[in-house]
Amino acid sequence: MTDEMMDAVEKENVVFFATATKKGIPNVVPIGFARPLDNKTILLVDNYMNKTRENLENNSKASLVPRDASECPYQFKGTAEIHTSGKYFDDAVDWAQSVMSKLSPKAAILLKVEEIYSVKPGPDAGKKVD
Ligand SMILES: Cc1cc2nc3c(=O)[nH]c(=O)nc-3n(C[C@H](O)[C@H](O)[C@H](O)COP(=O)(O)O)c2cc1C
Repeated sequence: MTDEMMDAVEKENVVFFATATKKGIPNVVPIGFARPLDNKTILLVDNYMNKTRENLENNSKASLVPRDASECPYQFKGTAEIHTSGKYFDDAVDWAQSVMSKLSPKAAILLKVEEIYSVKPGPDAGKKVD
C-alpha cells in the first residue's frame, strides 16, 4: 500500500470486509475497527464476527474496500491471519477498549495484502495497481 492508501484506510470509519465459505458463498460485513499496521497489513478487530470468522477459519482469502471508496478507490485482497493471543491480539484489545471500554475482542485479524485493484470509475476500473 502507498502512504496515501494507508492514510485513507486509517481515516476511514468503516470498511466493507468480504470473505467466503470454502464452497465460495460470499459474505460481506461493515467493520469499524480496521487500520493499516504497515504497507502490507491491515488489522481488523473481531468483536462480533460470526460467519466472517467461520469463513476465515476455513478459507483465509479475503477482500476489503473502504466505505468511502470515492476517497480511497481501491480493493485490497489477501490472506487473513487470526491471532487470539500475543502482541497483535493485545494491541487490538487495547485499541478497541480505548474507544469503547465494554468491548472484549475475540481476535485480531491481520489481512496480509497481496493484491490491490483500482475501483475508480472510468478506464482504469478493475485494473491491478499492485
Ligand atoms: C458500522 C458498523 C461497524 C462494525 N464494526 C465491527 C468491528 O469493528 N468488528 C466486528 O467484529 N464487527 C463489527 N460490526 C459488526 C459486523 O458488521 C457484523 O455484524 C458481524 O461480523 C456479524 O456478521 P457475520 O456473521 O457476517 O460475520 C460492525 C457493524 C456495523 C454496522
